[in-house]
Amino acid sequence: MIVVVGARGMLGHDLLELFGSSARGVYHDEMEIISPVSVEKVLKNLRPKVVINAIAYTDVDGCETNQVRAFQVNGDGVLNLARVTAEIGAKLVQVSTDYVFDGSKGKPWLEDDLVNPLSTYGRSKLAGEENARFNPDHLIVRTQWLYGLHGKNFVETMLRLGKEKEEIGVVHDQIGSPTWTVDLSRAIHSLIAADCRGTYHAANVGSCSWCEFASAIFEEAGLKTIVKPITTGELGRPAPRPLYSVLGCGKLQRDTGFEPEGWREALKKYLKARRQRNGAG
Ligand SMILES: NC(=O)c1ccc[n+]([C@@H]2O[C@H](COP(=O)([O-])OP(=O)(O)OC[C@H]3O[C@@H](n4cnc5c(N)ncnc54)[C@H](OP(=O)(O)O)[C@@H]3O)[C@@H](O)[C@H]2O)c1
Repeated sequence: MIVVVGARGMLGHDLLELFGSSARGVYHDEMEIISPVSVEKVLKNLRPKVVINAIAYTDVDGCETNQVRAFQVNGDGVLNLARVTAEIGAKLVQVSTDYVFDGSKGKPWLEDDLVNPLSTYGRSKLAGEENARFNPDHLIVRTQWLYGLHGKNFVETMLRLGKEKEEIGVVHDQIGSPTWTVDLSRAIHSLIAADCRGTYHAANVGSCSWCEFASAIFEEAGLKTIVKPITTGELGRPAPRPLYSVLGCGKLQRDTGFEPEGWREALKKYLKARRQRNGAG
Protein backbone atom coordinates (compact mmCIF):
# COMPACT_ATOMS: atom_id res chain seq x y z
CA MET A 1 0.00 0.00 0.00
CA ILE A 2 1.04 3.59 -0.71
CA VAL A 3 0.32 6.23 1.93
CA VAL A 4 0.01 9.88 0.94
CA VAL A 5 0.51 12.15 3.95
CA GLY A 6 -0.83 15.68 3.53
CA ALA A 7 -3.70 14.25 1.47
CA ARG A 8 -5.86 17.37 1.80
CA GLY A 9 -3.23 19.63 0.21
CA MET A 10 -3.14 20.70 -3.43
CA LEU A 11 -0.67 18.00 -4.50
CA GLY A 12 -1.81 15.41 -1.94
CA HIS A 13 -5.32 15.50 -3.34
CA ASP A 14 -4.19 14.79 -6.92
CA LEU A 15 -1.72 12.10 -5.83
CA LEU A 16 -4.48 10.29 -4.02
CA GLU A 17 -6.78 10.53 -7.03
CA LEU A 18 -4.10 9.23 -9.41
CA PHE A 19 -3.01 6.30 -7.23
CA GLY A 20 -6.64 5.32 -6.63
CA SER A 21 -7.37 2.19 -4.62
CA SER A 22 -3.64 1.40 -4.18
CA ALA A 23 -3.29 4.45 -1.93
CA ARG A 24 -4.56 5.61 1.45
CA GLY A 25 -4.60 9.30 2.36
CA VAL A 26 -3.51 10.55 5.79
CA TYR A 27 -4.86 13.91 6.92
CA HIS A 28 -3.61 16.54 9.38
CA ASP A 29 -6.25 15.63 11.98
CA GLU A 30 -4.95 12.03 11.89
CA MET A 31 -1.20 12.70 11.95
CA GLU A 32 0.89 15.64 13.17
CA ILE A 33 4.19 15.51 11.31
CA ILE A 34 6.15 17.37 13.99
CA SER A 35 5.20 14.77 16.61
CA PRO A 36 7.43 11.64 16.48
CA VAL A 37 4.80 9.73 18.49
CA SER A 38 1.98 10.62 16.09
CA VAL A 39 4.05 9.71 12.99
CA GLU A 40 5.13 6.40 14.51
CA LYS A 41 1.62 5.46 15.59
CA VAL A 42 0.00 6.12 12.20
CA LEU A 43 2.70 4.54 10.01
CA LYS A 44 3.25 1.48 12.21
CA ASN A 45 -0.48 0.89 12.17
CA LEU A 46 -0.78 1.19 8.36
CA ARG A 47 2.56 -0.51 7.47
CA PRO A 48 2.76 0.93 3.91
CA LYS A 49 5.41 0.01 1.33
CA VAL A 50 5.74 3.64 0.20
CA VAL A 51 5.05 6.94 1.99
CA ILE A 52 4.70 10.08 -0.15
CA ASN A 53 5.13 13.25 1.87
CA ALA A 54 2.94 16.05 0.48
CA ILE A 55 2.97 17.90 3.82
CA ALA A 56 4.77 21.23 4.04
CA TYR A 57 4.56 24.68 5.51
CA THR A 58 4.24 26.26 2.05
CA ASP A 59 3.66 29.93 2.89
CA VAL A 60 7.01 31.21 1.57
CA ASP A 61 6.67 34.70 3.07
CA GLY A 62 5.10 33.34 6.27
CA CYS A 63 8.20 31.18 6.78
CA GLU A 64 10.29 34.38 7.19
CA THR A 65 8.28 35.47 10.23
CA ASN A 66 7.70 31.94 11.55
CA GLN A 67 11.09 30.34 11.10
CA VAL A 68 10.75 27.87 13.97
CA ARG A 69 7.52 26.48 12.52
CA ALA A 70 9.09 26.29 9.04
CA PHE A 71 11.98 24.12 10.27
CA GLN A 72 9.69 22.01 12.48
CA VAL A 73 7.31 21.10 9.66
CA ASN A 74 9.63 21.12 6.63
CA GLY A 75 12.75 19.80 8.39
CA ASP A 76 12.15 17.93 11.68
CA GLY A 77 8.87 16.46 10.45
CA VAL A 78 10.66 14.79 7.54
CA LEU A 79 13.16 13.23 9.96
CA ASN A 80 10.22 11.71 11.84
CA LEU A 81 8.97 10.18 8.58
CA ALA A 82 12.46 9.02 7.56
CA ARG A 83 13.08 7.26 10.89
CA VAL A 84 9.79 5.35 10.89
CA THR A 85 9.82 4.47 7.16
CA ALA A 86 13.39 3.14 7.54
CA GLU A 87 12.28 1.06 10.53
CA ILE A 88 9.28 -0.51 8.75
CA GLY A 89 11.17 -0.99 5.44
CA ALA A 90 9.15 1.55 3.42
CA LYS A 91 10.31 3.96 0.72
CA LEU A 92 10.05 7.66 1.58
CA VAL A 93 9.14 10.03 -1.25
CA GLN A 94 9.93 13.60 -0.19
CA VAL A 95 8.59 16.44 -2.34
CA SER A 96 11.00 19.37 -2.46
CA THR A 97 11.44 22.63 -4.30
CA ASP A 98 13.39 24.75 -6.79
CA TYR A 99 13.86 27.22 -3.90
CA VAL A 100 16.84 25.14 -2.69
CA PHE A 101 18.73 26.88 -5.54
CA ASP A 102 19.80 30.54 -5.63
CA GLY A 103 18.67 31.23 -9.21
CA SER A 104 22.09 32.34 -10.46
CA LYS A 105 22.82 29.58 -13.00
CA GLY A 106 20.94 30.93 -16.03
CA LYS A 107 20.27 27.45 -17.45
CA PRO A 108 18.22 24.52 -16.12
CA TRP A 109 19.27 23.28 -12.69
CA LEU A 110 20.41 19.66 -12.51
CA GLU A 111 20.04 17.34 -9.54
CA ASP A 112 23.73 17.54 -8.54
CA ASP A 113 24.06 21.33 -8.82
CA LEU A 114 25.16 23.19 -5.73
CA VAL A 115 22.23 24.16 -3.51
CA ASN A 116 22.15 27.61 -1.93
CA PRO A 117 18.66 28.56 -0.72
CA LEU A 118 17.90 32.27 -0.39
CA SER A 119 14.87 32.09 1.93
CA THR A 120 13.83 30.42 5.19
CA TYR A 121 11.37 28.29 3.20
CA GLY A 122 14.20 27.12 0.91
CA ARG A 123 16.53 26.41 3.86
CA SER A 124 13.83 24.50 5.73
CA LYS A 125 13.01 22.41 2.64
CA LEU A 126 16.73 21.69 2.19
CA ALA A 127 16.80 20.47 5.80
CA GLY A 128 13.90 18.20 4.79
CA GLU A 129 15.95 16.78 1.89
CA GLU A 130 18.89 16.10 4.21
CA ASN A 131 16.63 14.43 6.76
CA ALA A 132 14.88 12.28 4.12
CA ARG A 133 18.29 10.71 3.38
CA PHE A 134 18.20 9.13 6.85
CA ASN A 135 16.14 6.44 5.09
CA PRO A 136 18.45 4.82 2.48
CA ASP A 137 15.34 4.06 0.38
CA HIS A 138 14.43 7.69 -0.25
CA LEU A 139 13.27 9.52 -3.32
CA ILE A 140 13.53 13.32 -3.31
CA VAL A 141 11.43 14.97 -6.03
CA ARG A 142 12.10 18.68 -6.55
CA THR A 143 9.37 20.57 -8.35
CA GLN A 144 8.22 24.15 -8.87
CA TRP A 145 5.48 26.74 -9.53
CA LEU A 146 2.63 24.32 -8.74
CA TYR A 147 -1.04 24.82 -9.48
CA GLY A 148 -3.93 22.42 -9.10
CA LEU A 149 -7.67 22.21 -8.54
CA HIS A 150 -7.43 21.75 -4.79
CA GLY A 151 -5.39 24.63 -3.41
CA LYS A 152 -4.57 28.32 -3.57
CA ASN A 153 -2.32 29.00 -6.53
CA PHE A 154 -1.20 31.59 -9.10
CA VAL A 155 -3.65 30.48 -11.83
CA GLU A 156 -6.64 30.83 -9.51
CA THR A 157 -5.39 34.20 -8.23
CA MET A 158 -4.98 35.50 -11.80
CA LEU A 159 -8.43 34.25 -12.86
CA ARG A 160 -9.99 36.02 -9.87
CA LEU A 161 -8.03 39.27 -10.34
CA GLY A 162 -8.57 39.15 -14.09
CA LYS A 163 -12.31 39.39 -13.55
CA GLU A 164 -11.95 42.27 -11.03
CA LYS A 165 -9.29 44.49 -12.65
CA GLU A 166 -8.47 45.89 -16.07
CA GLU A 167 -4.71 45.86 -15.47
CA ILE A 168 -2.45 43.79 -13.20
CA GLY A 169 1.25 44.24 -12.40
CA VAL A 170 3.08 40.87 -12.58
CA VAL A 171 6.75 40.05 -12.01
CA HIS A 172 8.77 39.63 -15.21
CA ASP A 173 12.24 38.89 -13.84
CA GLN A 174 11.60 35.46 -12.26
CA ILE A 175 11.77 32.56 -14.71
CA GLY A 176 10.50 29.05 -14.02
CA SER A 177 8.30 26.21 -15.26
CA PRO A 178 4.64 26.31 -14.18
CA THR A 179 3.65 22.77 -13.21
CA TRP A 180 0.22 21.16 -12.91
CA THR A 181 -0.08 18.94 -9.84
CA VAL A 182 -1.70 16.19 -11.97
CA ASP A 183 1.40 16.04 -14.20
CA LEU A 184 3.67 16.05 -11.14
CA SER A 185 1.62 13.19 -9.67
CA ARG A 186 2.14 11.21 -12.91
CA ALA A 187 5.90 11.85 -12.75
CA ILE A 188 6.00 10.65 -9.11
CA HIS A 189 3.98 7.58 -10.12
CA SER A 190 6.53 6.70 -12.83
CA LEU A 191 9.48 7.21 -10.44
CA ILE A 192 7.91 4.86 -7.88
CA ALA A 193 6.99 2.30 -10.57
CA ALA A 194 10.64 2.26 -11.73
CA ASP A 195 11.78 1.97 -8.08
CA CYS A 196 14.03 5.03 -8.46
CA ARG A 197 16.07 6.29 -5.50
CA GLY A 198 17.95 9.52 -4.89
CA THR A 199 17.12 13.00 -6.16
CA TYR A 200 15.05 13.87 -9.25
CA HIS A 201 13.61 17.02 -10.81
CA ALA A 202 10.00 16.87 -12.06
CA ALA A 203 8.11 19.73 -13.67
CA ASN A 204 6.26 20.61 -16.85
CA VAL A 205 8.79 21.52 -19.52
CA GLY A 206 9.59 24.87 -21.14
CA SER A 207 9.90 28.09 -19.18
CA CYS A 208 8.40 31.54 -18.81
CA SER A 209 8.24 34.50 -16.43
CA TRP A 210 5.29 34.98 -14.05
CA CYS A 211 4.30 37.80 -16.38
CA GLU A 212 4.24 35.54 -19.44
CA PHE A 213 2.38 32.91 -17.44
CA ALA A 214 -0.28 35.46 -16.43
CA SER A 215 -0.68 36.54 -20.08
CA ALA A 216 -1.11 32.88 -21.14
CA ILE A 217 -3.74 32.32 -18.43
CA PHE A 218 -5.76 35.35 -19.58
CA GLU A 219 -5.42 34.36 -23.24
CA GLU A 220 -6.57 30.77 -22.62
CA ALA A 221 -9.41 31.95 -20.39
CA GLY A 222 -10.55 34.60 -22.88
CA LEU A 223 -9.94 37.54 -20.50
CA LYS A 224 -8.80 40.92 -21.82
CA THR A 225 -6.87 41.95 -18.67
CA ILE A 226 -3.67 43.89 -19.39
CA VAL A 227 -0.50 42.49 -17.80
CA LYS A 228 2.01 45.15 -16.75
CA PRO A 229 5.56 43.83 -16.19
CA ILE A 230 7.03 44.76 -12.80
CA THR A 231 10.26 43.72 -11.05
CA THR A 232 10.66 41.46 -8.03
CA GLY A 233 11.95 44.53 -6.16
CA GLU A 234 8.82 46.52 -7.00
CA LEU A 235 6.59 43.72 -5.67
CA GLY A 236 8.55 43.87 -2.38
CA ARG A 237 7.74 40.44 -0.89
CA PRO A 238 9.49 39.54 2.41
CA ALA A 239 11.16 36.32 1.17
CA PRO A 240 13.81 36.50 -1.58
CA ARG A 241 13.05 34.29 -4.61
CA PRO A 242 15.49 32.70 -7.10
CA LEU A 243 15.39 34.64 -10.39
CA TYR A 244 16.04 31.63 -12.61
CA SER A 245 14.76 28.36 -11.20
CA VAL A 246 13.94 26.13 -14.21
CA LEU A 247 14.52 22.49 -13.27
CA GLY A 248 16.14 20.19 -15.83
CA CYS A 249 14.07 16.97 -15.97
CA GLY A 250 16.37 14.84 -18.20
CA LYS A 251 17.19 12.36 -15.41
CA LEU A 252 13.47 11.67 -14.85
CA GLN A 253 13.00 11.03 -18.59
CA ARG A 254 16.11 8.82 -18.87
CA ASP A 255 15.38 6.65 -15.82
CA THR A 256 11.60 6.21 -16.24
CA GLY A 257 10.72 6.98 -19.88
CA PHE A 258 8.23 9.56 -18.57
CA GLU A 259 7.91 12.56 -20.91
CA PRO A 260 6.74 15.66 -19.06
CA GLU A 261 4.29 17.82 -20.98
CA GLY A 262 4.95 21.45 -22.02
CA TRP A 263 3.71 24.03 -19.49
CA ARG A 264 1.30 25.72 -21.92
CA GLU A 265 -0.33 22.42 -22.92
CA ALA A 266 -0.67 21.52 -19.23
CA LEU A 267 -2.30 24.88 -18.52
CA LYS A 268 -4.88 24.24 -21.27
CA LYS A 269 -5.69 20.83 -19.76
CA TYR A 270 -5.98 22.32 -16.29
CA LEU A 271 -8.42 24.99 -17.48
CA LYS A 272 -10.46 22.30 -19.24
CA ALA A 273 -10.52 20.15 -16.07
CA ARG A 274 -11.55 23.25 -14.12
CA ARG A 275 -14.43 23.99 -16.54
CA GLN A 276 -15.59 20.37 -16.28
CA ARG A 277 -15.51 20.54 -12.49
CA ASN A 278 -17.54 23.73 -12.59
CA GLY A 279 -20.04 22.06 -14.91
CA ALA A 280 -19.27 24.24 -17.93
CA GLY A 281 -18.16 21.40 -20.25
N1 LIG B 1 2.96 25.11 -4.15
C1 LIG B 1 4.06 25.24 -4.86
O1 LIG B 1 4.14 26.09 -5.77
C2 LIG B 1 5.23 24.35 -4.62
C3 LIG B 1 6.42 24.55 -5.36
C4 LIG B 1 7.49 23.69 -5.15
C5 LIG B 1 7.41 22.66 -4.23
N2 LIG B 1 6.28 22.50 -3.51
C6 LIG B 1 6.19 21.40 -2.55
O2 LIG B 1 5.14 20.53 -2.95
C7 LIG B 1 4.57 19.90 -1.80
C8 LIG B 1 3.05 20.06 -1.83
O3 LIG B 1 2.74 21.44 -1.83
P1 LIG B 1 1.23 21.96 -1.86
O4 LIG B 1 1.27 23.31 -2.49
O5 LIG B 1 0.35 20.89 -2.40
O6 LIG B 1 0.95 22.15 -0.30
P2 LIG B 1 -0.41 22.62 0.43
O7 LIG B 1 -1.54 22.68 -0.51
O8 LIG B 1 -0.04 23.84 1.22
O9 LIG B 1 -0.69 21.41 1.42
C9 LIG B 1 0.13 21.14 2.51
C10 LIG B 1 -0.54 20.10 3.37
O10 LIG B 1 0.29 19.91 4.53
C11 LIG B 1 -0.57 19.76 5.64
N3 LIG B 1 0.17 20.14 6.85
C12 LIG B 1 0.75 21.35 7.12
N4 LIG B 1 1.35 21.31 8.32
C13 LIG B 1 1.16 20.05 8.81
C14 LIG B 1 1.56 19.41 9.99
N5 LIG B 1 2.24 20.06 10.94
N6 LIG B 1 1.23 18.09 10.17
C15 LIG B 1 0.48 17.44 9.23
N7 LIG B 1 0.05 18.01 8.09
C16 LIG B 1 0.40 19.31 7.88
C17 LIG B 1 -1.72 20.69 5.38
O11 LIG B 1 -2.84 20.28 6.13
P3 LIG B 1 -3.86 21.39 6.75
O12 LIG B 1 -4.13 22.37 5.66
O13 LIG B 1 -5.02 20.57 7.15
O14 LIG B 1 -3.09 21.99 7.88
C18 LIG B 1 -1.93 20.50 3.88
O15 LIG B 1 -2.82 19.43 3.63
C19 LIG B 1 5.27 20.53 -0.59
O16 LIG B 1 6.33 19.70 -0.20
C20 LIG B 1 5.82 21.83 -1.14
O17 LIG B 1 6.96 22.26 -0.40
C21 LIG B 1 5.17 23.31 -3.68
